[in-house]
Amino acid sequence: MLKKWWHNTVGYQIYPKSFQDTNQDGIGDLCGVIRRLDEIAQLGANVIWLCPVFTSPMVDNGYDISDYMGIDPSFGTMDDMKELIARADEKGIKILMDLVVNHSSDRHEWFQKALQDPCGEYGKYYVFREGKDGNPPNNWRSIFGGSAWERVEGRDNLYYLHIFTKEQPDLNWENPKLRGEIYEIITKWMDMGLGGFRLDAISHLKKNYSYVNLPPDGPDGYKLAFEYINNVDGLSEILREMKERTFLPTDALTIGEYDQMRPEEVEAVIGENGNFCSVFDFSHTFHDVNGEKWKGNTRALFNDYRDKLFQAQRVVGGRGMLCNFLENHDKPRCIDRFLAAADQNRYSIRMLPVTNFFFPGIVFLYQGQEIGMRNYPKVRLEEYVDKPTYAIYDRLLMQGKSPEEALEELNHASREHGRTPMQWNGEKNGGFSEAEPWFAVNPNYTWLNYEAQKEDPDSLLNFYKRMVAVRRRADLEETFIYGEFLPRYEKEDGILAYERKDEKNRVLVLTSARSETAELPFEGKVGEILLDNYAVGEKDGTGTAEETYGELTGSGNRLIVKPFQCLVLKLG
Ligand code: NOJ
Repeated sequence: MLKKWWHNTVGYQIYPKSFQDTNQDGIGDLCGVIRRLDEIAQLGANVIWLCPVFTSPMVDNGYDISDYMGIDPSFGTMDDMKELIARADEKGIKILMDLVVNHSSDRHEWFQKALQDPCGEYGKYYVFREGKDGNPPNNWRSIFGGSAWERVEGRDNLYYLHIFTKEQPDLNWENPKLRGEIYEIITKWMDMGLGGFRLDAISHLKKNYSYVNLPPDGPDGYKLAFEYINNVDGLSEILREMKERTFLPTDALTIGEYDQMRPEEVEAVIGENGNFCSVFDFSHTFHDVNGEKWKGNTRALFNDYRDKLFQAQRVVGGRGMLCNFLENHDKPRCIDRFLAAADQNRYSIRMLPVTNFFFPGIVFLYQGQEIGMRNYPKVRLEEYVDKPTYAIYDRLLMQGKSPEEALEELNHASREHGRTPMQWNGEKNGGFSEAEPWFAVNPNYTWLNYEAQKEDPDSLLNFYKRMVAVRRRADLEETFIYGEFLPRYEKEDGILAYERKDEKNRVLVLTSARSETAELPFEGKVGEILLDNYAVGEKDGTGTAEETYGELTGSGNRLIVKPFQCLVLKLG
């Protein structure tokens, strides 16, 4: 594989609105990111993905852009953005912005002009269609609920397409003029010194415009027509053109939010000459230990999680790099998503991030994950602010759930759990802001915060730092990036383990979701214990660490794995 500057990416995702407020308006800002660059560098991250900071009416917290070349005043100014890029660069950190070009905001000048003249030049930047018999053009459901079509005000029978909220009209990627405009925007931003982009909803750019009515998949009569709006034939040509006209000459890191990559297109999507550098591995995003499927069974979920992740790696088979992560701004916190309450303990919360952190590909952590931030269940529905969360609620009611049951479900499934303000210290509002935060801080900030963990060598934060340091250690880094990936103990219940191997190193990564000690067959010798969530000498009721290490380093042929243990072992 041809080596690239971004291959060693340990990324850190920032949701700026909730990261750090410096002008005391209750909203995080770019100066806040600048202020916290040291913390990000100390974690060992070398790339930041900044969720959208462009000018926006904030219907979807910036994923509805009204000016692609402007910075939203709530986040700061263009000078702040330039300063962030420069200051991050000094610390060896590259900034990725979030490119949201499946849709714009309905406040974007293009859309406003399009509304005035849907048949004119700007009308062709969007997707307007006539309705049928007093109904929208078809029964597609928007990903965020309700019809994917909105009637144009003042017109009887004209609709525009929006696969997200109605304030996010879809751009028409069939129009070369629109495409050219977007390419120009990308180039201008790259010229400012960006490392690249995370590309929002990028597998949706192309639609199948046959507009048939489909058999409904819910009582609302709509159908989430994914096969018509995601990874549709012809998408690849658009993405190739985009790459050739923008990213290729700049050597940008591009990470696509690309749903359902097909095995036969791996090379075209993330191969050496693929349309992107990487795409997120979403194979675990439907896992929710408290959901109907797993009903609180951590171990059963863990087995399935392992199988899905290994399958994704097998499909890629070293032909490209997936982007491995556990949390982002669209998901509840990973501790609550993967570990049932009874299984949440100091060992399991350290074991969890290790599971996929040493996978081939690049890795990303999300703000607050490094201190173990948790979901913040609400007492009243009105405490949620996000439109799609309400759409889920409505759908649950429609399915026959009671308001209490629907709220309970949101309390473990809403994406807003990932958006509570960052907990920096134990002071007012967790040190996020002096003013009333735009979204309530989780009250556990009094004990769960960055400052409290910083000085404690035994904290989760310092465990994350050690974990990142192992991945980036000079003599191991290439093995983790380019080495072979060999699943181990694959049929062992509750065990997720793999070896990374090249001519220089062999490293065994072993994680256990078992609540009791496991004894596994083990041939070979341990050269070095790179990471262990049990301290040396620590007793757990089933034997001392010395005993385990005795087994590991001696010529024994078994491995004693303690409850929820994780081990990263350099094999000698
Ligand atoms: C995916 C983003 O991650 C999500 O937050 C957003 O709401 C949608 N795309 C629409 O842009």
